[in-house]
Amino acid sequence: MKRAHWGSRVGFILAAAGSAIGLGNLWKFPYITGVNGGGLFVLIYLGCIFAVGVPILIAEMAIGQKSQANAIRAFEVLDKPKSPWQGIGLLGLLTAILILSFYSVVGGWILNFTVFSFTGAFDNLTTQNAGSLLEGVFSAPLTQSIYHFVFLSLTIGIVLSGVKGGLEKWNKILMPSLLIILVFLFLYSFSLKGSAKALSFLFSADASKLTASGVLEAVGHSFFTLSLGMGTMITYGSYLSKKENLIKTSLMIAFLDTSIALIAGVVIFSVVFSFGMEAQAGPGLIFATLPTLFHQIPGGTFIGILFFLLISFAAITSAVSMLEVMVAFISEKFKISRFKATSLAGFATYILGLLTVISTNIGKNSFQILGTTNFFDLFDKLTSSYFLPLGGIMISLFFGWKMSDSIKNNILKAYPKWMVQLFLVSVRFIAPIAVLIVIYNESFL
Ligand code: TRP
Repeated sequence: MKRAHWGSRVGFILAAAGSAIGLGNLWKFPYITGVNGGGLFVLIYLGCIFAVGVPILIAEMAIGQKSQANAIRAFEVLDKPKSPWQGIGLLGLLTAILILSFYSVVGGWILNFTVFSFTGAFDNLTTQNAGSLLEGVFSAPLTQSIYHFVFLSLTIGIVLSGVKGGLEKWNKILMPSLLIILVFLFLYSFSLKGSAKALSFLFSADASKLTASGVLEAVGHSFFTLSLGMGTMITYGSYLSKKENLIKTSLMIAFLDTSIALIAGVVIFSVVFSFGMEAQAGPGLIFATLPTLFHQIPGGTFIGILFFLLISFAAITSAVSMLEVMVAFISEKFKISRFKATSLAGFATYILGLLTVISTNIGKNSFQILGTTNFFDLFDKLTSSYFLPLGGIMISLFFGWKMSDSIKNNILKAYPKWMVQLFLVSVRFIAPIAVLIVIYNESFL
């Protein structure tokens, strides 16, 4: 069976950026920054993106491009049949279904808010009851599971139409639109009286507010936001045929992804500090702040509709990249059609997602594991703080120690020697050791 490929260089970059840019930037980054007290957390996150994230991003794409295989078989192709390194891909598969299960429930909330913005549900909101809409969503499990279903179905639809027709086409239109409207909101937020406070919250470090688990969350989020550590970028790299310049591409993706997260942070916290809202509100943060913002702006209803639509698309293009990891593996391994593989993976994800749905209501406090009390928090913590960093360490070690010098030289040939050395030291030592220390600190001290 011949494998599909991207139609163009731009198409690949946009698809990889589309995978990276999603709820991680617009929903998760602002709220975990708020919970962890701002400045210092942001600084650690930025450090991780460039010291650990970028080298691993390059390594993942190189593994995919070289092997031209799915995230599990790639290790057989590059090492040997039955290679133990395949474990990386298997862990990635488990991680993919866990993340996608809660990701698509949150995606469902976004869709629901898109509908709210159409129907004028934001009109009567005040700063005091801004959280009430999401509370309403939480207390209606059936509606939530319907939106969760719609979100997954849209994701499945795009994955079904294949690499070129599906993934690539949509990303090309939607990602630039998202950027434009985000920049508009960013500029607007400077007219709000809380914008100066937002900037100092985000960019001045205050060590007293950060905990060991906050540090791990920053490390984990650098993996989450760049879609690293579970084979997404291996899979996307495997649809790349030409000798693409992976280093430039990676830097560009990391730069775009980080800028969007920071811009979203400035917008959200300007609203928080202008209207006396709660910075530590948690996962509900953007659902309370954005409607409040749209209230303020002239023509806000229209902008609100557009923006929630675009967040939905950003979320879908990321969800697509997670589902694609599963589909590429299942269809190739069991030699079944793309349709069957997608339906199977989609169905399993849907069922697992119901555990997140009940985590917002009846199952909110069901147990005590790893400091979490429900499946939503548990899946998030397990994957972001443990599975992705562990997967990332192993990918880094595999690339640094197992891939042949000729492959590495090929990727790096256009660069000055010192940069090549720095990169190799990073994937062999710095990235894996740094991540291990952080995991160890949080778990055992
Ligand atoms: N990076 C995406 C976001 O920020 C989410 C995502 C897509 C992801 N693929 C992934 C996260 C793979 C971890 C691993 O929203």
